[in-house]
Amino acid sequence: MHNALAVSAGIRLRPFESADIPNMRLYLNEDLIYNNTLHIPNPYTQADAEQWIEKTVQNAVLYGQTVNWAIDYEGTGLIGGIGAMVKNGMEGHLDEIGYWLAEPFRNQGIATAAVRTLSKHIFATRPLVRIEAHVFAHNPASGRVLEKAGYSREGFLRKCFLKKGQYIDAVLYALIREE
Ligand SMILES: CC(C)(COP(=O)(O)OP(=O)(O)OC[C@H]1O[C@@H](n2cnc3c(N)ncnc32)[C@H](O)[C@@H]1OP(=O)(O)O)[C@@H](O)C(=O)NCCC(=O)NCCS
Repeated sequence: MHNALAVSAGIRLRPFESADIPNMRLYLNEDLIYNNTLHIPNPYTQADAEQWIEKTVQNAVLYGQTVNWAIDYEGTGLIGGIGAMVKNGMEGHLDEIGYWLAEPFRNQGIATAAVRTLSKHIFATRPLVRIEAHVFAHNPASGRVLEKAGYSREGFLRKCFLKKGQYIDAVLYALIREE
């Protein structure tokens, strides 16, 4: 099992651990993260962080490899998260990724490098031919991340998600193994 994936100078992906909880609580309590994601709670509590870490441990056992990664910055610890959702099992041809990066570290290319690293890793370790990502239409920065990481914009999905009683338009991006 891979325990760490190098991303760029000082940045690596590694499994979540209990010591990440203070940074998770610090960085995940942000309106922008809440508004641009589907499942991250707000406010983000100690119990939310504990449950998430437990789930990542269970997922690693269930799937036989790490699928949820902490983005780690040397000296700071956790600054974000990225992972595969395992939509069709580990042997499926298709999966979806999701990610977030803490506000102080944005616009330095870190999320793009993390998406590149994870995409390469899951193509290398699983029989995937397609990785996709859904981005809320009001989140152009995330669309830009995917484009820079080689993903293609495939379509505009009207009222694709329902969150707190509101339907949200999304943009679909995908990366094909040969690309
Ligand atoms: C989306 C997110 C992961 C980007 O992380 P990041 O490390 O800043 O991304 P990068 O630095 O690799 O690239 C960001 C790109 O978006 C661009 N960008 C930033 N804000 C933008 C905006 N409001 N409109 C358009 N582009 C924007 C940047 O200029 C950069 O592109 P460039 O290199 O061509 O200049 C981060 O903002 C985040 O965590 N947001 C909240 C959670 C989230 O949206 N998760 C994704 C859900 S699909």
